[in-house]
Amino acid sequence: MNAPAASLTPAETLRAALAGLLDGLPPRQAAQAVERLIATYRGATPTGAPILRDRADVAAYAAYRMPATFEAVRSALEAFARAVPGWAPGDHVDVGGGTGAAAWAVSATWDGGRPVTVLDWAEPALALGRELAAAHPALKDARWQRARITAELTLASTDLVTVSYVLNELTAPDRAALVDAAAGAARAVVIVEPGTPDGYARVIEARDRLVSAGFRIAAPCPHSAACPIAPGTDWCHFSARVSRSSLHRQVKGGSLAYEDEKFSYVAATRLPATPAAARVVRKPQIRKGQVLLDLCETDPSLRRTTVTKRHGDLYRAARDTDWGDAWPPAG
Ligand SMILES: C[S@@+](CC[C@H](N)C(=O)[O-])C[C@H]1O[C@@H](n2cnc3c(N)ncnc32)[C@H](O)[C@@H]1O
Repeated sequence: MNAPAASLTPAETLRAALAGLLDGLPPRQAAQAVERLIATYRGATPTGAPILRDRADVAAYAAYRMPATFEAVRSALEAFARAVPGWAPGDHVDVGGGTGAAAWAVSATWDGGRPVTVLDWAEPALALGRELAAAHPALKDARWQRARITAELTLASTDLVTVSYVLNELTAPDRAALVDAAAGAARAVVIVEPGTPDGYARVIEARDRLVSAGFRIAAPCPHSAACPIAPGTDWCHFSARVSRSSLHRQVKGGSLAYEDEKFSYVAATRLPATPAAARVVRKPQIRKGQVLLDLCETDPSLRRTTVTKRHGDLYRAARDTDWGDAWPPAG
């Protein structure tokens, strides 16, 4: 029997709610819905109408993608929260929120409830998001509102705007309008995209607009100056570990218990923020007696540093440091 919802973490509550989603749906049918969705996402976006058209689409999206987008947003928010300690959003608007992954991630990052509004143009996604959120005390009063992102978009003033895995589905003018609307409405804006060269390029475009609007970058960058990566040579991205459900194993084959979701992000704010001194931007390489860390630093520059046994405590800390962490570790 499941423990009562109150004793579960938001991540566990979400997992339990998603597990029930495909109950009653024959496994083959669930796998087919996911395969159709993957094929649609491989096609041309943006589309003139919502990709998530009906209950089967959104159930497939939620079961297959939401655990990964939730973990990616949660990682971005945790990095943001470390740069702005002591602050928690008093309210939150999630634009293109779909089934609500970012709303769940916000509740996993900051304790307590807050007014939450999820905006999306796909009614079936909002309906399922509302259904899933009923299982979570912090989200059961969230507002799920139909809204189309266009160049005319305006947002009511709020503490936090999240935009996760949405920019990819918009035209360039709509992307710009959305970022400007978020900058005009919020004290903090967190944008997450797939960790691909294109996803990174959209994040950089948004980052530039946020900085022009007077925001400071809280994470992942240690500074608000231009990104030191020469366009087209590399892309800044991170990785979040996601437990695989039985649906994942069915669609992707194999028996791995987890997979790694690659994502790019920017978290910017008008609040006083203390970004990391440097950030680990690749998977650390652990060698005998040494750890190689690729760092983005405040100069701004990208630099590899080698931490050896001779560095004592710092070496032990380097061995525990992950891709995406701040360096050196706090304390
Ligand atoms: C890949 S899903 C991401 C959903 C959610 N943010 C997440 O991270 O799981 C993209 C979402 O953006 C929404 N979307 C795309 N274009 C939109 C538009 N022009 N107006 C409103 N919503 C849009 C879709 O309906 C969908 O829910």
